[in-house]
Amino acid sequence: MSDEVAELEEHLTMGIDPWEKNWMRFSVVMLLVFFVAVTVAGFAAGYQLPGDDGKVDPRTVTEEGPWSEPGVTEIADGKFEAYVVAQAWNFAPREIVLPVGAEITLYVTSPDLQHGFKVTDTNINVMVVPGQVSKMTFTFDEVGEFPYICHEYCGQGHAAMFGTFKIVSEADYEAQAAEDSTDSEESENDA
Ligand code: CUA
Repeated sequence: MSDEVAELEEHLTMGIDPWEKNWMRFSVVMLLVFFVAVTVAGFAAGYQLPGDDGKVDPRTVTEEGPWSEPGVTEIADGKFEAYVVAQAWNFAPREIVLPVGAEITLYVTSPDLQHGFKVTDTNINVMVVPGQVSKMTFTFDEVGEFPYICHEYCGQGHAAMFGTFKIVSEADYEAQAAEDSTDSEESENDA
């Protein structure tokens, strides 16, 4: 009788091999590690996904709208936005000058092929896909040059596809802006 009970008990308890138990524990631990890593990256380290900020028509995107005149504008004190065109094999604009501490929101798109947009020493690294807008925001806290490159092979001129963020001191930025406005006044007078 007791033999039957023991047999029945064994039948009802799930027999799990010790190795299998260890692998199950390991899987749970790994899930927790990944969860913590993603949470820290997203909320503490500021990692972000490039926003899919709407769709555009790649055939006309450089003819009308903000990408027809790519460049930087100051939208509020210390806040900038830039419309960037990645096109074989160049970036427009090729140089972006900002004062240190500037927060910039980038809107990057491509009228032709798939390109990449990676800025050295920052967490900006996105794909640029025709018809889509890659949006990201970054604050430059250090003076220096931060080159941006295309990191998706896009043909013969791929290696020549780059540009530079020039982050300058507030004083240098003001001086440059003053110089630019006199330059444009002069050229207006010339015309
Ligand atoms: Cu564009 Cu490589």
